[in-house]
Amino acid sequence: MEKIRVLTLVGGISRDSLNKKLYHAVKERAPQSIKILTFDISKIPFFSQDIENDPPDSVIEFKDLIREADAVLFITPEYNRSFPGVLKNAIDWGSRPYGQNLWDKKPAGVMGATVSNVGTFGAQHHLRQVLAYLNLSVMAQPEFYFTSKNSFDEKGVLTDEKTKKFIDQYWRAFSDWIIKLIPSSEKGESREFAKDEHPPTH
Ligand SMILES: Cc1cc2nc3c(=O)[nH]c(=O)nc-3n(C[C@H](O)[C@H](O)[C@H](O)COP(=O)(O)O)c2cc1C
Repeated sequence: MEKIRVLTLVGGISRDSLNKKLYHAVKERAPQSIKILTFDISKIPFFSQDIENDPPDSVIEFKDLIREADAVLFITPEYNRSFPGVLKNAIDWGSRPYGQNLWDKKPAGVMGATVSNVGTFGAQHHLRQVLAYLNLSVMAQPEFYFTSKNSFDEKGVLTDEKTKKFIDQYWRAFSDWIIKLIPSSEKGESREFAKDEHPPTH
C-alpha cells in the first residue's frame, strides 16, 4: 500500500540542535503508513528575486521534494519569540515565483522544542500565521510544545516516556488530518493509503 509522504523540515541547523533530536524521535515513531522525506534547509541560499526564476540546484531539489510531499511537518526552535530566519527563507523559496506557491493546500503540522518554559509557543504561532497565508491547512490540535529537560540521552535519543506517548498521539491525529485532506482524486485505486490504528511500539 502506498505510504503518505510527509516532508519534515527542521528549523534548527546547528550540529547539536534540540529540534534535530526531536525530529529523530518523531521519525522513529512515525506510523508504518508514513514515509518521512526531509531536506537540510541550510543548503539553500538566501532568497532573492534576482535568482527566483533560475534557482540553484539545491533549491530545485527542495522544490521537487515539496511537490512530492502529501503533507508537511515543521519542527521549529524559538528565536526571539519567533521562528528562525533560516526556516522563513526556505518557506519563502517554496512560495515563489509569484503564482507558483508550492505549499498551496498541503496539510501541515507544527512542533517545536526549546530549552525554556515557553516551549516554542511564540515561534509556532508566528509560523502558523505565515502558513495560513500560504494556504497550508495546519492541524490545530493537538499542539506540541516541548520543553526539553533531560529528555534525551548523551547520544541524542529521546528517553522521556511521556514525550514518546505524546509523539504517538500527535502522529495518530496528524495521519487522520492528512487522510481527511488529501483530495479523493489522489487517493484513487493506485494510491490507497494505509491507516494505522496503533502507533509502533518501541
Ligand atoms: C538567537 C536565539 C534566540 C533565542 N530565543 C529564544 C526564545 O525566544 N525562546 C526560547 O524559548 N528560547 C530561545 N532561544 C533558546 C533556544 O530555545 C535554544 O537555543 C534551542 O536549543 C534552539 O533550538 P535548536 O537547538 O534546535 O537550534 C534562543 C536561542 C537563540 C540562539
